[in-house]
Amino acid sequence: MTRRIFLIGFMGSGKTTHGKKIARMIDYNFVDMDEWIVRKEGKSVADIFRDNGEPYFRQKESEAIRELMIMERVVIATGGGAPCHGENLQMMKEAGLVVYLQFSPSGLLSRLMKSKNERPLLAGKNKAEMLATIEELLGTREAYYKQAQMIIDGVKASDESVVNAIQRWSENSL
Ligand code: S3P
Repeated sequence: MTRRIFLIGFMGSGKTTHGKKIARMIDYNFVDMDEWIVRKEGKSVADIFRDNGEPYFRQKESEAIRELMIMERVVIATGGGAPCHGENLQMMKEAGLVVYLQFSPSGLLSRLMKSKNERPLLAGKNKAEMLATIEELLGTREAYYKQAQMIIDGVKASDESVVNAIQRWSENSL
């Protein structure tokens, strides 16, 4: 079995929720990368963006990946922008299996409208502005997301089917 599974995808695609369940099912540890950074920095993602700026946050994401990619038996939920900067995606692919949880912009919009998480990139936007931001960001990010070794339809896939796919991938890549 691959030692590390990185879940990637847009904000609101359920990386944390699915990651926790998948980790429990295969008896792996679970790490949420945003939480990892928040703990190290001693402030929320929103405060990091406000006080230190987005480039600083992206630097912290790269550092987090370097720290997490040496852990064993771990499922990692990454932040939505993490695979789209610097060497991050390549590092994750070399360290384990990268799984993209894919949704359409409208699917993401309805999920994000219900979410209570504070997301600096979407803060203060109404529904139409949010959809425009999702479309724009996804437009540039999908090129990165689609380089994942595994692409999962976020609407249809169950946690069981993802675990089965991970197990099959691991057997074939030995
Ligand atoms: C971001 C996604 C967030 C968080 C930060 C930036 C992004 O994580 O890392 O707000 O650039 O897409 P989630 O994908 O867990 O919401």
